[in-house]
Amino acid sequence: MRTKTAFKLLVLLALIFLVPLPALLAAHGDKRPMKKGILLVAFGSTVPEAQVSFDNIERSVKKSLPGVPVYWAYTSRIIIKKMAKEGKHVATPAEALAKMMRENFTHVVVQSLHTVPGAEFHGMLKNVHKFGGMDKGIKKVLVGYPLMATSEDVQRVAEAIIKVIPRERKKKEGVVLMGHGTHHPADVYYAALAYHLQKLDPNVFVGTVEGWPEIDDIKADLEKRRIKRVYLMPFMSVAGDHARNDMAGPEQDSWKSILEQEGIQCLPVLKGTAEFQEFVDIWVDHLKSAFSHLD
Ligand code: CO
Repeated sequence: MRTKTAFKLLVLLALIFLVPLPALLAAHGDKRPMKKGILLVAFGSTVPEAQVSFDNIERSVKKSLPGVPVYWAYTSRIIIKKMAKEGKHVATPAEALAKMMRENFTHVVVQSLHTVPGAEFHGMLKNVHKFGGMDKGIKKVLVGYPLMATSEDVQRVAEAIIKVIPRERKKKEGVVLMGHGTHHPADVYYAALAYHLQKLDPNVFVGTVEGWPEIDDIKADLEKRRIKRVYLMPFMSVAGDHARNDMAGPEQDSWKSILEQEGIQCLPVLKGTAEFQEFVDIWVDHLKSAFSHLD
């Protein structure tokens, strides 16, 4: 009788001391000091000028959030592969976060450098959120909005566009921006942007390569307004392949050729949005806003 009671007591004692053990272990793991980091995620580009834009963004980020380590990743696998052939290694967002995890980062803001919350953005969102709250991993991962997310962003982007139009452009001359466009529902952002641009300056238009509005819609608008000279500008972070070929290239189906066939003179401006501080400031503001929610 006595031995049975003693045994029961022992089991009870073991339970009392064993139950809190996992909690104690977890608390032990939590002793890591808070380490905050930033991961900048762009679609990516192989043109050398892109690096100038990305360096400019990094400088602005470091100025706004001094002392916070900054990492980079691209979402385009095609571009990552092309870069690898040239001997340059660029990480995917998942690879970069795995590295940050090994380096004991506990809190990370992933800042999207995309233009709209489209397919590239949502694909990234899905992957990076898996890194938040892993055992012995990053405790919190927050994602900063791309260039246009809220209605206020769209308005601000429209105002930024007006500011970066070459000064020599006369009011009756047109400005045609080439956006990328997407099959994702976020393609509507380009129409929203066109609405704001029309309010600010009725001779400024935005079209897309892969979405709506298309160049034929823009051509009709230009004809309606009897515009004979336009500035062609990319509305993409980098003046890469689309800007150089589909917008300003000599091929028959480039926007330049299409408009020139209609007797509209074209003046291409090969500068991506990431080269202008007006747009960089918007991305950095989105980053700062996400960063303020880290703790
Ligand atoms: Co493309």
